[in-house]
Amino acid sequence: MRITFCQGVLVAAIAVNLLVLYYISRLQQRVLHRHRDRVPPGSHQQLCSPLRPGVTLLIREFEDFENYVPDVVRSFLKDQPELPVVVVADRLPYPPMVLPSAPNVQVVLLKPSPHQAIHTFRPETYVRTEYVALVPDGVKADSTSQLEHMLEEFKSSQNEAKMVVAPVQALAPLQCLNLKVSLKEWTAEYTASPPSSKLCQALRGEAVLLLRTRDLFNLSVPLAKPLLTSLFIQSSLRGWAVRVVGISFSSLHLPLLSSSHNQWKADNLAKANRLQLFQDFGIKRVILEDGKEQWFGCSKETPRCFGTIHNDMPDYLYRNRWTPPCCLKALRETAKYVINILETSGVRYWLEGGTLLGAARDQDIIPWDYDVDLGIYLEDIPNCELLRSAEAGSIVDEKGFVWEKAIEGDFFRVQYSEHNHLHVDLWPFYSKNGVMTKDTWMDHRQDIEFPEHFLKPLVPIQFAGFLALAPNNFRSFLELKFGEGAIENPEYPNPALKKMDKGNRRGAHRREEAVD
Ligand SMILES: *[C@@H]1O[C@H](CO)[C@@H](O)[C@H](O)[C@H]1NC(C)=O
Repeated sequence: MRITFCQGVLVAAIAVNLLVLYYISRLQQRVLHRHRDRVPPGSHQQLCSPLRPGVTLLIREFEDFENYVPDVVRSFLKDQPELPVVVVADRLPYPPMVLPSAPNVQVVLLKPSPHQAIHTFRPETYVRTEYVALVPDGVKADSTSQLEHMLEEFKSSQNEAKMVVAPVQALAPLQCLNLKVSLKEWTAEYTASPPSSKLCQALRGEAVLLLRTRDLFNLSVPLAKPLLTSLFIQSSLRGWAVRVVGISFSSLHLPLLSSSHNQWKADNLAKANRLQLFQDFGIKRVILEDGKEQWFGCSKETPRCFGTIHNDMPDYLYRNRWTPPCCLKALRETAKYVINILETSGVRYWLEGGTLLGAARDQDIIPWDYDVDLGIYLEDIPNCELLRSAEAGSIVDEKGFVWEKAIEGDFFRVQYSEHNHLHVDLWPFYSKNGVMTKDTWMDHRQDIEFPEHFLKPLVPIQFAGFLALAPNNFRSFLELKFGEGAIENPEYPNPALKKMDKGNRRGAHRREEAVD
């Protein structure tokens, strides 16, 4: 029998089709297989598979030396043996944690080990349900439906809240807080909400928190400790709210830790975690709901928290941040101290350059400025013992401030401390035919001669919380130095390198507005 060309093509096409079908069916079988036999944790396949409906229990915060994690897990598994549970630790818990041995209970270690792939250390590899409940140590599930009820509550309040929380019956009741974080100002401010409010931005107290897995793992740092502190800073920056639901959990053990020594250890670790968290997030000032302030970093004993300044632009401006509040505080303190000494020793001075600009604009240091400038009369220097001594070399005064003649030219510098080089610069001027001049000039637009009449008389001005002296008619003085409209139109020190955006311009006049 002879086969025509057409018949040949047909046979070949059928053969190819069969082959393709065979491969597709094999592929499908393989996928099914993987789903049936649990996928090894951390496999790439698992990461890419869609999330299943339901909730994963995630436990992140517990102490190695004393915890109830196995009991917590058992209490939840009692009625829901299939509930996925993920325990997340930085390192392998020691002494070893004996968890129920079940395929749905897994421990994730966040600290990488050089012989394993990166996804092994990512908790999102292990949380494969649409929702995740963050459960603190010591929480007991009383009934099967607590997590389910939380999920229902979540679904019914999705329009107003990205997260729901259920309080844990503990020593102190759960407190609902407002939280405003300004990275620009390195500040987090907590305020109390009315006792009846159910919609919060942060919480004080123990709680089980439920949210979408996608939302949790889309945060910058999903599982940093302290967990809720970290979470609420990130969520408030994204405008997320948390709703308190009418479900509560009980505790396995109250107080959680059995000895005051362990409690002391836990408190110290919590404090260290909090410090680390705020350092990592670049938050240096925390205002608590009771009005107390906490400062993280920058003191008289620490180095100035920014490095050498290039082209008048401190590094933080490029990171869209302003001067750290602790630096502003230290500058105010140094300025007040120096001015007091100048006044009592009879050295005529006036607020100069950007410092005067800040006083005229905000009665304060410009929020992104990095030093304070004062003009002084050259002929008055002998009146001040500290300035006289500084001419001979740097000296540390009785309050720890460092007075020195600058190496960059004929001016004086008073540093906050030997460690912290935040400073006030004193620029000596002298009068020459009615014009104030000096011998050292910096390459700054505002560093120019000016008529002496601006100093006759000097006038008081509110500055940094006290009264300082300024040139009379300081608006014309500033416009002479910085150009017209300098007070109304804030600019960064070197606008050629970075311009201030519109929002900031407005913010510079009204500090409250700038906080968002
Ligand atoms: C993740 O977060 C970014 C903003 O941080 C947002 O634009 C994006 O839509 C989020 N993605 C998901 C899947 O929620």
